[in-house]
Formats: sequence, C-alpha cells, structure tokens
Amino acid sequence: MQRIFSGIQPTGVPQLGNYLGAIRNWVALQADHECIFCLVDMHALTVWQDPASLRAQTLAQTAVLLAAGIDPKAHILYNQSAVSAHARLGWIFNCVSRLGWLNRMTQFKDKAGKDRENHSAGLYVYPNLMAADILAFHATRVPVGDDQRQHLELANDIAQKFNHDYGVDFFPAIEPLIPGETARIMSLRDGTKKMSKSDPSAQSRIELTDTADEIALKIRRAKTDPEPLPSDAAGLEGRPEARNLVSIFAALSGETIDTVLARHGGSGFGPFKQALADVVIAAVAPVADETRRLLEDPAHLQGVLRDGAARAEAICEPIVKDAERIVGFLR
Ligand code: TYM
Repeated sequence: MQRIFSGIQPTGVPQLGNYLGAIRNWVALQADHECIFCLVDMHALTVWQDPASLRAQTLAQTAVLLAAGIDPKAHILYNQSAVSAHARLGWIFNCVSRLGWLNRMTQFKDKAGKDRENHSAGLYVYPNLMAADILAFHATRVPVGDDQRQHLELANDIAQKFNHDYGVDFFPAIEPLIPGETARIMSLRDGTKKMSKSDPSAQSRIELTDTADEIALKIRRAKTDPEPLPSDAAGLEGRPEARNLVSIFAALSGETIDTVLARHGGSGFGPFKQALADVVIAAVAPVADETRRLLEDPAHLQGVLRDGAARAEAICEPIVKDAERIVGFLR
C-alpha cells in the first residue's frame, strides 16, 4: 500500500479551496492508502502567529478535519511540532537545498512581495521543511492543490541530490496528486486570485464553519460579469469569475462543467447563484455542525493529536535516524 503524506497550516479556518483542492481527496484516499495528515504549525510560524490563536486554530482545524471525514484511528492526524524528526531532517535539507532553487519559489515571492528583507528566514527555507515533512516518512504520494506543485518539484530535487551526494538510494520519488478543475479554487471577489485563508476579506472565501446564511450571502455577493452563463465550457474562456463558480458547482455536484452549463447556460447569475448556494450549503453545513460539536470537547481533540504524534514518530524516527547516520552524525 502506498504511503500518503499531506499537510495544512493551522492558520484560520479551512476554506472551500482547501476542501476541494486537498481535504476532500485526503478523505477519499483513506480507502486504499496508508495516510498521514499533519497540521503544520512549524510552517505557520514562518509568519507571525499570536501564540494563543495558534493553539486555538490547531484544535479548530483538528475538529474540521475530523468533521470532514479524516479517520484518526485507521490513519494518522497530528501536529508537526510534536514530532522533532521534522526539524532535524529539515535542517539537513537546508544544507542539501541550493539558494538558487529557493530563489525560484513563486510562493515566497508572492508572500514576501517587495518587502523581502523584512520576512523571516523561515519563510524562505519553508520548502526545505516541507520536503522533510514528506520524506521523513518515505511517503510517495502527496495530495495537494496546484499552488504546492513547485514545492513538490523542489522536494524531488532535494531527494535526488541527497541520494546523489551521499551515494545512496535512500529517499524515494514523490508523486503529486493534484485534482483537475478544483486544483485552484479562486477568490469570490477576484477570479484571478486564489481563494485563501489569509485573504483580508472574509467575503472572498467560504469557510468550512460558515452558516447557511453566511454561505448564501457570500455567494450572492460573489463577483461576476454582466453576460449570461455560456452553454459549454469553451464559453468560460476569459471569464475567470464565471469559470470559478461553475467549477465549484461541478466539483460539489459531481457533474462535468458541460453538464452544469447544459442546464444553466443562457440564464443570468441570479438563479445560478441560488442553485450554487444550495450545493455549497449541502456540502459545508454538515462539516460545520460536526465541527461545532467536536469543539465542545477540546481534551478529546488534544488526545487525537497526541496519539497521532506518537504513531507518526514511530514511523519517521527510524528513517530520520538513518538519514542522520548517512550524513555522518555521530551517535
Ligand atoms: P495550505 O495550508 O496553504 O493549504 C492546504 C491545502 O489546500 C490546498 N489549497 C487549495 N487548493 C485549491 N484551491 C485553493 N484556493 C487552495 N488553497 C489551498 C493547498 O494546495 C494544500 O494542499 N505548504 C502547504 C502545507 C504543507 C504540506 C507539507 C503539504 C506543509 N508540509 C507536506 C503537503 C506535504 C500549505 O501551506 O498548505
């Protein structure tokens, strides 16, 4: 059975992009893979986090993931900082990875913007730690959204360079599992920007804990263009907001974009948004309800993470010890 590893930052509430790009696949992959899912609190720290809210958000995300269908008994769910092997292999990879490789990372450029000098060194070496997350488990398949593609290419470069430099065949190749249309869900306010937990406007995203009323309002206010919907996918060309809403509809209703447009093509956005709100609410409301219920028992959530961390450690500790031996660390 192939081993899956994936992670999510415990910053803010997971949004529909996280769900359609990643979490929904995580849930499905549990059927025939050995899965390890990680709340990457060490990655979150690369930009300032208020300590109390980092703790609260780590628990809140645990609740959302369980509510969405992650099974913490058959698989593993834990927070990254509880397992020291991440940091230790991350350091080795800081020494394997090249500055030239990191300089090409578009996510760093996007996040740091023009104010590069004032960002943490952690944000810059973030992709090295991400490679360590996966390779510490010798995981071979990584389900992520499209924005993580470049980081996974870098992880493969690091694995290859490590194997080559030390003359070993130790780290396996990683295969990204990136969904089709839903790999990049866009902001409800701007169809050219990805939907993000960190967007200052809460109107730009559907959060997995939103109420039905909040969802309906956000979709009603979602940016669109003045044309009616086209009757097939080709007509979505150059219409990013329309494409995004139709993609979300298709992903949640399990239909193709053409099937959705065969039904709604020619109509204005008013009735379509109403139908879209219905399918989004049907998907999100049960997750939101279950999340609220789970949050009433934080001790249980902490227990889930603690148990997951112990089981994660049992898998990755021997692998990272081997890596330490390979590079020459004396024990
Ligand atoms: P993060 O926390 O930004 O997002 C978690 C997952 O959600 C996907 N995603 C999206 N997919 C489609 N449309 C969107 N608008 C959208 N926004 C987010 C992301 O692609 C991701 O799969 N670096 C990672 C966390 C990480 C990780 C790892 C992932 C750390 N170590 C090892 C895989 C393997 C991140 O910041 O994800």
